[in-house]
Amino acid sequence: MSIALADEIRIDSESDIVVARKLVRDTATSLGFGLTDVTRIVTAASELTRNIYIYAGSGIMRCRPVASDARRGVELVFEDKGPGIADISKAMTPGYTTSRGMGMGLPGSKRLMDEMDLKSAVGQGTTVVVRKWLHK
Ligand SMILES: Nc1ncnc2c1ncn2[C@@H]1O[C@H](COP(=O)(O)OP(=O)(O)O)[C@@H](O)[C@H]1O
Ligand SMILES: [Mg+2]
Repeated sequence: MSIALADEIRIDSESDIVVARKLVRDTATSLGFGLTDVTRIVTAASELTRNIYIYAGSGIMRCRPVASDARRGVELVFEDKGPGIADISKAMTPGYTTSRGMGMGLPGSKRLMDEMDLKSAVGQGTTVVVRKWLHK
């Protein structure tokens, strides 16, 4: 993996979600992603920053270009010190929500991106890492 520095956005309010979306859109576009993929990546960023805001109250998003072997892409990290997720497989089930949401944020983001890692500990917080790779 490359060691490009990540841009970091603090998520404390609705307006930070807009700022995060713009950073992700600009980064993905400058890396060469097409409009359809840019929209997918921005949608995932939107859902995952919203989860930070709703469930944890605050946290951070980091955005950086990544490269491994012949591949290049973008990596987004969403980190909070909120309540955590007790049952991750339940949370990943489409339609499951604890907030009268659509329950599609986590499963939808996994589908929109190429890779997703979710680590969470109750009482400690949640970290979601997603990546999307450019197709040659
Ligand atoms: N960062 C987070 N911290 C704590 N719980 C979370 C977090 N993100 C998601 N969850 C839990 O996972 C569930 C599913 O999330 P999601 O798929 O985005 O659907 P929704 O937000 O519509 O409920 C949420 O209802 C919540 O219980
Ligand atoms: Mg959600």
